[in-house]
Amino acid sequence: MNEFDTDDIPSNLSDNEHFQSVVDRVVSRRGFLKMGAGVSAAAFLGGALTACGGSSSSGDAQDPTSPGDPGDGAPPLTGPLLGFEAVAANTLDVVTLPEGYRADVLIPWGTALFSGVAAWRDDGSNTAGDQAKQVGDNHDGMHYFPIDGKSSEEGLLVLNHEYHERTMYASGAPASDDDRRKSQHAHGVSVVHIKKNAEGRWDVVVDSPYNRRIHANTWMELTGPAAGDTLMTSRYDAEGKMVRGTINNCGNGFTPWGTYLTCEENFHGYFGTTSDHGTLTEDQIELMGRYGVNPGRSGYTWEQIQDDKRFDCVLDPQESNRFGWIVEIDPFDPSSTPKKRTALGRIKHENCAIALTDDNRVVVYMGDDQADDYIYKFVSDGYYDPNNPIGNRNLLDSGKLYVARFGDNEASEGFMGQGEWILLDKNENPVLKADDARFPNQAAVLIKTRLAADAVGATKMDRPEWVAVHPGTREVYCTLTNNSGRSEPNGPNPRTENRYGQIVRWREKGADPTATEFEWDLFVLAGNPIAYPDDELLRGSPNVTPDNTFNSPDGLAFDQQGRLWIQTDGDESDSGRYEGQGNNQMLAADPRSNEIRRFLVGPRGCEVTGITWTPDMKTMFINIQHPAAPWPKNQWSHLEGGDAQGRSATVVITKDDGGIIGT
Ligand code: FEO
Ligand code: CA
Ligand code: CA
Ligand code: CA
Repeated sequence: MNEFDTDDIPSNLSDNEHFQSVVDRVVSRRGFLKMGAGVSAAAFLGGALTACGGSSSSGDAQDPTSPGDPGDGAPPLTGPLLGFEAVAANTLDVVTLPEGYRADVLIPWGTALFSGVAAWRDDGSNTAGDQAKQVGDNHDGMHYFPIDGKSSEEGLLVLNHEYHERTMYASGAPASDDDRRKSQHAHGVSVVHIKKNAEGRWDVVVDSPYNRRIHANTWMELTGPAAGDTLMTSRYDAEGKMVRGTINNCGNGFTPWGTYLTCEENFHGYFGTTSDHGTLTEDQIELMGRYGVNPGRSGYTWEQIQDDKRFDCVLDPQESNRFGWIVEIDPFDPSSTPKKRTALGRIKHENCAIALTDDNRVVVYMGDDQADDYIYKFVSDGYYDPNNPIGNRNLLDSGKLYVARFGDNEASEGFMGQGEWILLDKNENPVLKADDARFPNQAAVLIKTRLAADAVGATKMDRPEWVAVHPGTREVYCTLTNNSGRSEPNGPNPRTENRYGQIVRWREKGADPTATEFEWDLFVLAGNPIAYPDDELLRGSPNVTPDNTFNSPDGLAFDQQGRLWIQTDGDESDSGRYEGQGNNQMLAADPRSNEIRRFLVGPRGCEVTGITWTPDMKTMFINIQHPAAPWPKNQWSHLEGGDAQGRSATVVITKDDGGIIGT
């Protein structure tokens, strides 16, 4: 949470139903504890479901209730999924891990990736040129690519940089165009070649030809149905096919064919103007408004750069249409041009998670992180072929985009309701077909994804953040982080002010990721049994206890053995309704028993986000974003350098006995 976070302010003016109303009706009809979160796991993961590994083309049936439900390629599971001793909540300035685990810091903001580049300076005096060759700020989504497809000793760590701290400016505010370009270079993606040293610790391979910075001035290609559309042209690109930069890179995804997906989230905050608003058309104002682009002054002031007016949303009213996409990057080809995949839709993308069908179609699940926005999925037309790397390259350019509607109708035992996927297709959806003014073609549907989803009656959610697909069962989980602004009471549900958040999960009909129907449940309704021991709903679902209480789930991922890792980005006051929850944290859950156990507590002021593993699962990488106090220096006093400010960094987690993380 920071001054640039505006996700909790809705921009959805549609009359579409809110997910909370659906939950309210189910609860009032059937009773929360009978139907509610954390009670129905056995039913949820049992039944007649047969599923294959999400990363497999084999189609082998697995019993989803077998121990661990591991994905294909996962190390064998011996013992329980959760083997560590839970850590207590705290408000310290360090990373706290269970007994027997160790944390090391890697690539804090400003780490030089090439020799001859200035080291990070604590006083903000690094230049835009320095920052373009240093690791960016506010580390977020991340993925480890083994150097040879299998190494747990050497690989490319690819990570997002969501935004940056004011401390990057020597005077606390941008004072020159070099400052503004430095700000642009602190965003985007880092590709970092890393390798284990003789002591078994990870180092950066400085000057590796793989090392790369992608930022707000890197050229990328628009691909898919919206590329070249009249709404995609801009001041510097009459063709609507090339765009400079990717910004507000939040969560991520990765593909079975070895590419990285970076997700553009709060892009609106970079656009502003120094001009009169009068020249914008009503259509432009409607579209900008739905995405939060505001023709005032931006916090970043990029619109003031003398010789670059693309972020002035009055002088260049269509440039913002070229942001809000998922960008595919080939980390192994440093000269490759990143591709903005328009078929996946334009929203404030949090992250994305891929499931393969039995016949290898590619399904991409995505959340739009804003209060009252929606959950989406994309189904590729083509098929992934592990033996044809070139043929996989453009799989994300052609397919069907759907948005979710959650219903409260009777569902199978263990589920709270049914749902459907509504197709956002100009020719096949009658609502979109009838509206030629706003949606003249499929490109317009994709560029105006939010408006199209409003029109077809999608369900408003409480800020969908990360989505994760179980590697064995292909069930999908999504964090709904909170929606504290929702004040209208609705039925008997006291959770109208949703301050703690929840995790919704669904199973597609027939366990087929392309299905257009699903059944849903809540995996956990976060709450606080310390502050509200006797309040059935505010204390949370039965799998929330005084020992694991947390708020605002955000980052979410399954490891290949089927542990669900939950990262938080919420209130860390540790008092009042948040008493006993401490700093932001990471927990691990067993989706069969529904048990949730706290694994890590971050330093004060941070959020914990981004997660990836080496293939042997013995090294886990996570990110500590925007810590408040002088961290990592605070934790590792032997570190050289300034660190008078908190600095975002990657943390490498290993087990002293060399075991799998979480066991
Ligand atoms: Fe970038 Fe919604 O977190
Ligand atoms: Ca953040
Ligand atoms: Ca997030
Ligand atoms: Ca968040």
